[in-house]
Amino acid sequence: MSSSAEPHKYEELRKAVDRLSTEVGMPDQLMERMVQFLHEKMLKYNWVGFYMLEPGTKPPTLALGRFRGAMTPHTRIPLDQGICGAAAASGKTVVVDDVRQDSRYLACSLETKSEIVVPIFVRGSVVGELDIDSHFPAAFGFEDRELIEHCAQLVGKHMERA
Ligand code: SME
Repeated sequence: MSSSAEPHKYEELRKAVDRLSTEVGMPDQLMERMVQFLHEKMLKYNWVGFYMLEPGTKPPTLALGRFRGAMTPHTRIPLDQGICGAAAASGKTVVVDDVRQDSRYLACSLETKSEIVVPIFVRGSVVGELDIDSHFPAAFGFEDRELIEHCAQLVGKHMERA
């Protein structure tokens, strides 16, 4: 499972998501195919989903979009709550190696040990994020982060073109 032992795997995954983005029409289709792909190909990505900012909500709130994995109680998350809220509010990737040590963490599953949340930008503004949970501690190394940030960028570019 060590990422550094599998450099080609990440390269192949990146090429495969690039292909996905050329095969679909609407951003929603890309998000659906992407969660399916990442969840299926990466055994340590146990929950993969998008949260998108709901237009006009006060306080600004994220709404659960396309996802794979167990249903979550957190279908709407205000920006001042959770790791999801922190990533969207700051516009920065948040990686949490041990969710039990992070007071911001909103639990979705007792099995979750680590989490990464990557914001999605459209024309410079955060519009949502890609959230991945793992049953393994510290599951998101440098190559995972690069891959997931690439996925979030692809969705942002797709939304800009739509
Ligand atoms: N853990 C997230 C909530 C979403 S679930 O992971 C699907 C958080 O702390 O914001």
